[in-house]
Amino acid sequence: MVETASTTGRRYLNDAAWRYFWHPVCTLSELRTAAADGGRAFPVTLLGEALVIAEIGGEVAAFRDRCIHRSTKLSVGRVEDGGLRCAYHGWLYGADGAVREIPAMPDHPIPGDCRVRRYEAAVAYDLVWVRLDSSAGAATVVPPCPAWGDEAFRCVPGEPYTWPTSAGRRLENFVDLSHFPFVHDGSLGDRRQTVVPVAKVDRLNGELRFQFRPSPDMQLPGVALMAPTDYRIFMPFAVNLEFFFPGGERSQLWMAASPVESGVCRSFWFTCRTEDRNGDDRPHLDFQDLILSEDLPVIEAQDPPEIPAPAEEFSVLTDKVSVAYRRWLKELSDATDESPKAFARRLASVRIESGRVYEDAAPSGPR
Ligand code: FES
Ligand SMILES: [Fe+2]
Repeated sequence: MVETASTTGRRYLNDAAWRYFWHPVCTLSELRTAAADGGRAFPVTLLGEALVIAEIGGEVAAFRDRCIHRSTKLSVGRVEDGGLRCAYHGWLYGADGAVREIPAMPDHPIPGDCRVRRYEAAVAYDLVWVRLDSSAGAATVVPPCPAWGDEAFRCVPGEPYTWPTSAGRRLENFVDLSHFPFVHDGSLGDRRQTVVPVAKVDRLNGELRFQFRPSPDMQLPGVALMAPTDYRIFMPFAVNLEFFFPGGERSQLWMAASPVESGVCRSFWFTCRTEDRNGDDRPHLDFQDLILSEDLPVIEAQDPPEIPAPAEEFSVLTDKVSVAYRRWLKELSDATDESPKAFARRLASVRIESGRVYEDAAPSGPR
């Protein structure tokens, strides 16, 4: 009998591994819109943990969404008086998570260990990022968004969307080359052209990189948008695609899937372009919305929503990117069972299959 998650009682991938990484949890605008509405804080869920995000004294803080006094959610409290005040008995938490006031006994000293669990939080690309477990230290960073801050590009944020699938499945769908003719017939692909090249996949800097170079007969006029594309997957759930158009124009599509909880992810994304930078953004956003509406029905129909063990799905040569991705996820997941150090070593591992030389390659880690 094949061992499966249901027979072993354990999932194929150990979700604890993703706690070492930075994930986006909300947009800065969502946080500030809540704050402008009577000082509301912003509740989010990351890897099944309920968190509250609040901007306190100019600092974005992420706390466990549970008051240490009588367990009311802090997200029903208010940002006021230089802290986050619990709605029940008014305890006030500072940006560092320490209790600053206990209104019922203002003349008594506050015990030193009176603090809510606080997580690392950062702001990048107008998104709030959280890392639940910092024990892998500098091994993980907020994934790059190459076009952000590059004056050659105009970056437009899309509306974040929540899908009933795992972040791993979402990421795989984003980098899947052989679904275009079926899921995106007429938008990104064409039913008459189903054969895809097999990419050479490189592993370096915590990324998988590969290139898609469609043959001229794949670029059907007026039907397929099949530009040469460079892919970068920032492990585990972020990705950037750069498209190269005739005449030198470029565009980038960036996405980070946040692992909300089992079988649910929320994707944050930008579409960035060098062409027509002062033009209307709407057609670019509308095109992506069309692509997403084509993808969703097949993604929500995947059962299970989590990436299963290799024996449970049939992979072929053209699934090479997915196989390389799953292999690395599994290595990171297994190393997490060992130690944060082992995890960091696996994330720094290097495998170059394409023969390309990367100028930004970090000094070689163990292979
Ligand atoms: S439950 Fe939060 S102050 Fe009492
Ligand atoms: Fe797709």
